[in-house]
Parts: sequence; C-alpha cells; structure tokens
Amino acid sequence: MTRQTEYPVNPQFTERWSPRALSGEALPLDTLMSFFEAARWAPSSSNVQPWRFVYGLAGTPGFDAIFGSLVQFNKDWAQKASALVAVISAKNWPAREGFETKPFGSHSFDTGSAWMSLALQAHHAGWVAHAMGGFDAAVLAQALGVPADYAIEAVVALGKQTDKSVLPQALQEREAPSPRKPMAEIVAEGKFSF
Ligand SMILES: Cc1cc2nc3c(=O)[nH]c(=O)nc-3n(C[C@H](O)[C@H](O)[C@H](O)COP(=O)(O)O)c2cc1C
Repeated sequence: MTRQTEYPVNPQFTERWSPRALSGEALPLDTLMSFFEAARWAPSSSNVQPWRFVYGLAGTPGFDAIFGSLVQFNKDWAQKASALVAVISAKNWPAREGFETKPFGSHSFDTGSAWMSLALQAHHAGWVAHAMGGFDAAVLAQALGVPADYAIEAVVALGKQTDKSVLPQALQEREAPSPRKPMAEIVAEGKFSF
C-alpha cells in the first residue's frame, strides 16, 4: 500500500493520482467545461483570479499546438490524451487607469489551487488530469499566442485511464500511485525545523 494516511481524510485526496495509460476516447465538451467550472471557484488573492486555460481536444489543431511543445517523454504517453490544457497565469495586477502595472505576487500560487480543483473535479467525474512541466514554454507561448505578461504554469493531459499495457515498457513499470513524505518532514510547530 503506497497510499496510507497518518490521519483520516476524505478519500478524494488519496484516490486521485496521475496515471499515464490513457484510452484516447472523446471527452464531452460539457464534461471538460465542468472541470474548468471547478477551477473557476478556487480562492485567489483579492479575488483577482489570475488563472487562464487554453484547451485543445484530441484531433484538433489546438491539441496539436499544445502537443508539439511537449518533451518526448510526455509525447510518448500524452498522445492518447482526450484533451490537453495549457494552465496559464496573469503575472500582473489587472490594469487600472492611472496606476502603474505591478507584479501580482500570488499568480502561481492561486493558479496552482485552481489546477487542483480541476484535477479533483476530473477525478470525481471518472477522468484523469495529469499535470506536466515537461514542455517548452517559449514554443507553447508562440503556438498559442500567449502574451509576455502571462506565465504558462503547466500543461495538463485529460483522459480516461486504461490498461497500462498501452504504455511503453519503461512507463508500465512506473504506472502506480506514488507515496508521500511523512508528515514530520513537511509540518512543524513554531519553528522551521526541517
Ligand atoms: C507542476 C507539475 C509538473 C509535472 N510534470 C510532469 C511531467 O512533465 N511528466 C509526467 O509524466 N508527470 C508530471 N507530473 C506528475 C507528477 O510526477 C505527479 O503528480 C507526482 O509524481 C505525484 O504523483 P500523483 O499525481 O500520481 O499523486 C507533474 C506534476 C506537476 C504538479
């Protein structure tokens, strides 16, 4: 058992994981939108909501644009994704007349929470949401027309989990839920004592 908790939690936290064996089946648009809907309700500093999502459904040019930016390791399995999503954040406070543009310090933090809401909603609906940092951000920004004051935080593969036999051998061996560090390594009382 790689996923034992030290304290009881809602099983959604331990049952969600990031499989790579995906079936390639079509993701209904309403279902996809429900994932973004979940993300929309994430908290953010001053309710700025810096997250933006650009998606491409399998078999469309939008998918190909995102897919083309992935490193080969990710291409090997994400080719069977039903959709790819670029998770993007606005780096600056929203423009206000008479005010200079100022960096928005929590753009990544806030967008991270939106991604997690998306992932949990996908899991709840029986779909996989697998985040990837293995992509070329410059290539992707160019392909999607992302302006310089936005950061591409991650690409997410969405799909239906299938049997791991669809994966190359090396990936089949890694196809299992991973463990976590013990609580004592991540939580301390009163002082940073790690
Ligand atoms: C920001 C981010 C980047 C990631 N990059 C990749 C990636 O490029 N390729 C990949 O196969 N998995 C990637 N992952 C998946 C992680 O390896 C995975 O979430 C982690 O090992 C924990 O496992 P779990 O999601 O199954 O619980 C990434 C996850 C995150 C959150």
